[in-house]
Amino acid sequence: MDEVEALRAELLSAVSGASDLAALEDARVNALGRKGRLTERMKSLGALELEARKAMGARLNVLRDELNEALAARKTALSSAELEARLASERIDITLPVRPEREGRIHPISQVIEELVAIFADMGFTVAEGPDIEDDFHNFTALNMPPDHPARQMHDTFYLPPDANGERKVLRTHTSPVQVRTMEAGPPPYRVIAPGRTYRVDYDMTHTPMFHQIEGLAIDSSTHMGHLKGCLIDLVRTFFELDDLPTRFRPSFFPFTEPSAEMDIGCSRKGGELKLGQGGDWLEILGCGMVHPKVLELAGVDPTRYQGFAFGLGVERCAMLKYGIPDLRTFFEADLRWLRHYGFAALDTPSLATGLSR
Ligand code: PHE
Repeated sequence: MDEVEALRAELLSAVSGASDLAALEDARVNALGRKGRLTERMKSLGALELEARKAMGARLNVLRDELNEALAARKTALSSAELEARLASERIDITLPVRPEREGRIHPISQVIEELVAIFADMGFTVAEGPDIEDDFHNFTALNMPPDHPARQMHDTFYLPPDANGERKVLRTHTSPVQVRTMEAGPPPYRVIAPGRTYRVDYDMTHTPMFHQIEGLAIDSSTHMGHLKGCLIDLVRTFFELDDLPTRFRPSFFPFTEPSAEMDIGCSRKGGELKLGQGGDWLEILGCGMVHPKVLELAGVDPTRYQGFAFGLGVERCAMLKYGIPDLRTFFEADLRWLRHYGFAALDTPSLATGLSR
C-alpha cells in the first residue's frame, strides 16, 4: 500500500469511527484543518517535480473530495441519531396521573350573588352598580328620609370625616341608593338589580359591620303589586329549589315604599333544626314595596305616569339558609379551612349560559 492509500485508509476510518458530532469535528480538523494531515501533505507538493506534482495533486484532490463527502454523510447520520435519542429520552408520558394541585374556591357570597343574578337575568333584569361611599342625599334624603327623619337612626350609619364643605359622606347603609342613581341616569322603564356591599355599625351572631344586599327596581307605566309578588315568589322558589315553598307578605314600613311589605318563607323549626318548606313557621327573607311617589319625584320620574316596585334582600342570609352555614361572622374571617368546606369549585358557578344545573 502506498503512502496516499495508507493516509486515505487512516483518515476515512477516523471519520466512520467518530461516535458523536464532537469526535467527527476532531476527525475533520485532523484531516483538513489548517495543520491537518491532508493539508500538510498538499503543502509539500511544491517540493516535487512538475509531472510528479500533477499526478500527486490529482490524487490528493480526489482524496479531499472523498473525505468531504464521508464527513457530510457521517454528520447527517450522527445528527439524526442524536435527535432520535433526544426524542426517545424526552418523550412525555401522557398516561402518568397529573400532579395534584390545590384549586381555589369561590366564596359562598360570590356564588349566591351569581345564582341570584342568573335568576333575575332570566326575568329580564340587568345589573346596576353604585358607590360604597355614598352622599347623604342618595343614601337618605332622596329615599324620602330628610335630615332628622327618625328612620335614619335605625341605620347605625358609619360616617366619614366631614370634607372641606362640611359634607359628611357615609358608607351606604343599604343598596337602595342605587335605585336613585338608576332613575337619575335616564328615563323609565327600569328593570335592574344591584348587588353590593352595605355597612352598619353592628356586630353579633347575626350582624357584621359589612354585609351584602341585592336591590331590585322595576318601574314601568303599569307595574303593580301583583308583579312584585309574582317576581319575588318565583325568585325564592327558584333560588331554594323548592317548587312549593310557602311564602307570605306582611305589611311593614320603609320610608321609600308605600305600601311596604316584608316577605317570609315557610319553614319548620322542629327539634331546633331549621328546615325550609312546609312546616308552619315563617322566616323573614326580604323587604319590599311599591316605590313611594315622593322617591320617583325626587329622582325626576313623573309619579303620575310611572309606578313600580323595589326590594332589598340580604345575601348572607340567603347563603346561610341554602347552604347550611350557621354563623354569619365566619363569612368574613378569611379562614381557608372554612372556605375549603363551604366554598364552591369554579365550575359550579352558574352562568347565563349554563343556568343553575350542577
Ligand atoms: N333598603 C331596605 C333595607 O335595607 C330594604 C328595602 C329595599 C325595602 C327596597 C324596600 C324596598 O332594609
